[in-house]
Amino acid sequence: MTAIRTGLGWDNHRIAEGRPLILGGVTVPCEFGLDGHSDADILLHALTDALLGALALGDIGMHFPDNDPQWKGASSDRFLVHAAGLTKERGWTIANVDTTVILQRPKLKDFRNPIRENIARLLGLELDQVSVKFKTAECVGPVGEGKSAEAQAIVTLFQ
Ligand code: C5P
Ligand code: MG
Repeated sequence: MTAIRTGLGWDNHRIAEGRPLILGGVTVPCEFGLDGHSDADILLHALTDALLGALALGDIGMHFPDNDPQWKGASSDRFLVHAAGLTKERGWTIANVDTTVILQRPKLKDFRNPIRENIARLLGLELDQVSVKFKTAECVGPVGEGKSAEAQAIVTLFQ
């Protein structure tokens, strides 16, 4: 019988002038970016948490504490690759990942495929297993007012 697991991830970072805007490992040209200890890639953080959630192995902060100088400015690729390694080690295969980035601006749709390709590469998946969606927050709340950005991710595993 096939065993199935689902994991959910969410992340939120403050918008800051003079920081890079990195989403799914892809740098989006913009006059602002996201503040954080690492590269503040909310999408890879949400996805890492979704994988850890499916494995019931805690959350990203347990594996990579944000007060550890080792992770200052770290590329979030390594967080996701670490979670993917734990997934494989425990005998699970990723069926698909689905994600949403919520950012008022800039428009991200031209970056959808580069981001999907990068996530597929990091997780060893085909492009059609990786979904990346974008939403504004309709100018409402901290995301809508341009103070922050959020990402959500869900993954399905089987073995
Ligand atoms: O949030 P809303 O429904 O108005 O988004 C409309 C479209 O704009 C969506 O299809 C989404 O892909 C795109 N979008 C985008 N970049 C954003 C927010 C939304 O490309 N930052
Ligand atoms: Mg984060």
